[in-house]
Amino acid sequence: MSAPARAEPFFGPFATLRMLPLPGMRVVDLYEGFFADFYGGMAENFTADLTWLARRVGPDPKRVLDLCCGTGRLSTVLATAGHTVTGLDNAPAMLARAERRRARLSAEVAARCTFAEADVLTLDLGRRFDHVLLSGLSVSTFLDPADRSRLFATAARHLNPGGTLVFDHLPGPTGPEEHREEHDVIPLGPTGAGGFVLAGTRRSAAEGRQTANFYAERIGQDGTTDRFLSHNVLAMLTAEDLDAELAAHGFRPAVGELLHPGALLAEQTGMDPTAFTGSGELDHMRLRFVAAELGSRV
Ligand SMILES: C[S@@+](CC[C@H](N)C(=O)[O-])C[C@H]1O[C@@H](n2cnc3c(N)ncnc32)[C@H](O)[C@@H]1O
Repeated sequence: MSAPARAEPFFGPFATLRMLPLPGMRVVDLYEGFFADFYGGMAENFTADLTWLARRVGPDPKRVLDLCCGTGRLSTVLATAGHTVTGLDNAPAMLARAERRRARLSAEVAARCTFAEADVLTLDLGRRFDHVLLSGLSVSTFLDPADRSRLFATAARHLNPGGTLVFDHLPGPTGPEEHREEHDVIPLGPTGAGGFVLAGTRRSAAEGRQTANFYAERIGQDGTTDRFLSHNVLAMLTAEDLDAELAAHGFRPAVGELLHPGALLAEQTGMDPTAFTGSGELDHMRLRFVAAELGSRV
């Protein structure tokens, strides 16, 4: 399925906010500056997705490449479990958070965990790993099939034959939904006096896209307000399309599992799964976890 490109990433109230002449308003990347901390912090609170990925790496010490490592959520978990991990990302602010996370590890674990800046679409380290991982729906952020092809080529180039590429992604439409918009206000700071982030998700099966929009007002102690607008867009990909894209780079048909994020949160928190259903966006969302083995011809 190749989805039509959307020229305007802002929708609903975010499109309106973008047009307003608000003082100090900046449209910024989600992985830089204010949003690297906001988004990175939110992502770091969600750890249940890492369990499936880490299980695929197994208990014996392995050499792992974590592409699009972000704040090092996955890399540090794997290094702590005994693996030797190289985490790569192209956003300096995300890597800075990853380095701070690494500094909190014991010296022995930190020595097994390396972070560096790199573009995963052109990467060629000249060495191979037992596993290549991509977490946090990173694969879905590559909207253009040509970019996903370069990404999977990078994975194949860095895997030993028989090694596995392990990742999660947003699957194709999973039900008779599929045009939804949700909005939520997230207060900043312990009392909410630090401002707020208005977060919205727009999910469209027709476009094969899920778009997240964020509008932040950060209020300083002197009352000055910084305003930031950001977005990210995720491609919905069917298992069949993904298998075909992977096969083109020598991967065997992938093992995949559809999971409900509410079930993952229930596992992480030990709470009843019903605590995470009936509340909108999560009810309709599924994550698909995939492991694809590289054939010996590459
Ligand atoms: C959705 S975040 C996931 C981060 C992390 N894997 C996690 O699970 O929290 C995607 C990450 O991919 C990085 N990224 C996007 N394009 C990239 C590229 N071409 N090369 C390297 N990193 C890239 C972004 O900077 C961001 O940190």
